[in-house]
Amino acid sequence: MYILAISGSLRTGASNTTVLQAAALLAPPGVTITLYDGLGALPPFNPDLDSQDGDQLPAIVADLREQIGRADGVLISCPEYAHGIPGSFKNLLDWLVGSTEFPGKPVALLNTSPMSVHAPAQLAEVLTTMNARLIREASITVQPRSRGSSPHDIAADPELSATLRNAIVAFVVAVHE
Ligand SMILES: Cc1cc2nc3c(=O)[nH]c(=O)nc-3n(C[C@H](O)[C@H](O)[C@H](O)COP(=O)(O)O)c2cc1C
Repeated sequence: MYILAISGSLRTGASNTTVLQAAALLAPPGVTITLYDGLGALPPFNPDLDSQDGDQLPAIVADLREQIGRADGVLISCPEYAHGIPGSFKNLLDWLVGSTEFPGKPVALLNTSPMSVHAPAQLAEVLTTMNARLIREASITVQPRSRGSSPHDIAADPELSATLRNAIVAFVVAVHE
């Protein structure tokens, strides 16, 4: 099974990226979790470029859609900015609204900050509107112990790794249903 992981943070050492990298380390046999790395290079969404025949679609957007299409599921970890979804990540989602690859895709949402309640709720609303199959039982809060935690620190932490591993297993089970 192939899972595409998308972090909603562009920050170097971002907790959201780190948690997804830890998830990749903890993936059970037969499951590959790959981090998407194009978020910061996506152009601002423009419906004029999202034509039916696709001849104006930017190559990086076509690549994003292709990666989504190949994935059995999408694991998202996204911070909250000003009680909302960060603009760069909403931009990525907007590029997927008109795609054929995204609707019906199983999606799990990770949250690295228990303080953040608005962005997860908004993400759930937006993703459901986009016809994602939101897997609630795999959508969890997992907070790194410190800002400098590495993926290996998280994977080596008994409690955090168990939480992450359980979420991945729940996601894999739901994707197979
Ligand atoms: C511009 C900005 C706005 C933020 N607004 C909120 C907010 O409204 N609510 C909240 O809980 N955290 C807020 N935060 C904190 C981030 O969500 C938090 O630090 C998050 O863990 C950062 O994720 P990252 O480490 O993956 O970059 C904000 C951070 C920034 C930079």
